[in-house]
Amino acid sequence: MSNLAYFGGSKTVPDGLQVRWPVITEEDKRAVMAVLERGTLWGANAPEATAFQNEWAEYIGSQYCIALNSGTAALHCAVAAAGIGPGDEVITSAFSFLASATAIMHSNGVPIFVDIDPRIFNLDVRQVEAKITPRTKAIVAVDIHGVPADYDELRAVAEKHNLVLIEDACQAHGSLYKGVKAGKLGAMGAFSLNTTKNLPGGEGGLFVTDSAEFHGKANMTRIFGEYIEPGKGRSYKAYTLGWHYRTQEMPAAFARSQLKRLDTYVANAQRNGQYLTEVLNTIDGVTPPYIPPDRTTNYHKFRVILDPRALGVEGDPKLFRDRVMAALKAEGVSVALWQTFPLPANPLFQIGEGYGKKCPFACPHYGQQAVYNPDDYPATWHLVNNSFVVCEETYPIYPQPLELMKYYGEAFKKVFANLDEVLKIEIKPAVEVADGRVEKV
Ligand SMILES: Cc1ncc(COP(=O)(O)O)c(C=O)c1O
Repeated sequence: MSNLAYFGGSKTVPDGLQVRWPVITEEDKRAVMAVLERGTLWGANAPEATAFQNEWAEYIGSQYCIALNSGTAALHCAVAAAGIGPGDEVITSAFSFLASATAIMHSNGVPIFVDIDPRIFNLDVRQVEAKITPRTKAIVAVDIHGVPADYDELRAVAEKHNLVLIEDACQAHGSLYKGVKAGKLGAMGAFSLNTTKNLPGGEGGLFVTDSAEFHGKANMTRIFGEYIEPGKGRSYKAYTLGWHYRTQEMPAAFARSQLKRLDTYVANAQRNGQYLTEVLNTIDGVTPPYIPPDRTTNYHKFRVILDPRALGVEGDPKLFRDRVMAALKAEGVSVALWQTFPLPANPLFQIGEGYGKKCPFACPHYGQQAVYNPDDYPATWHLVNNSFVVCEETYPIYPQPLELMKYYGEAFKKVFANLDEVLKIEIKPAVEVADGRVEKV
């Protein structure tokens, strides 16, 4: 009789314990209904969005906040406010969501990628200076999975080379670096409110800064390049190129209501994350996330790294990873892959077409061709090939009961105690399809 649930053994995790995200309460529903009753659904200075901006600015401790319709919009507002334009290079991490890089391109800038520090998966500051050229204007640092990047070191590099430091805090609501909230660690910060995030709004974004100048520019980027004073009407005169990044009242009201519980969920995520970390630390060949002692994480993602060699397993690490994931899934553990290649390996950068005529990669103002060699990011490749995320996006770690984590810990122990069976799991190989994408057959 087999032990593993994958081969017919009993399943470790009972059904019905997982909590779906976002948790939607009666209070959340009343907040959205109140918008419908008020009848104001939009507006440059609409009441819910304005109140949300004030509340988020207070939460972060920033002077200014702008509510937007996505995290990508928030990032682009920061890039535009930094004055990025044709021919400018902006440094960012090779391990992130695509928008960390494309937000740079939305202002005609050229993303330059830096490989990651393998311990915290954020851009490796030691490699940043080597990528700085006379064209470099900014750094977009990413607080990946909720862990703030190395801001003391990043600020020193930014100051030395006169670069604007932008913080992609899209995954880091409520995380701290040396006691300071994520989002406030660079000159400007950007958050996403998409449904998977620790602060969900359906979709949405938040831009924060202490600079009146950056705030003014970002605000014009938000709304067609117009200058709009708080509480005043629109003149419809545009003073720069702007986009249409306004948020709406219903998502703003929903996110405001969620904000009241953000700290509770961050604390719950930390308790769950610390518990799982302790259990996984006892299992050979498994490394839970490392959180440096000078910062905290909201555990936006709980990424587990495998070391097949330490377990005497040879061959393709992806095959081992997929087998372990299949075994855990069968035991009832929620697991997922998130990002399976470094950003520069994305076809967008390999094809190099951008938005036409090869811009911004070979814009005449750039005067050269940006080349992205996927092999330049070994630490990112190692991470994506040897790791996976526990608690997939519909059931992230933040609202889960500790009881579920205990079962997850048991399931990990069981799977790693039965590696001989795990190695018998058949995984269909990945194949390259005609357009260059990798798909499972
Ligand atoms: C690190 C990071 N940057 C940027 C974004 C973009 O945010 P959004 O999806 O709200 O546009 C996301 C979210 O998907 C993200 O995780």
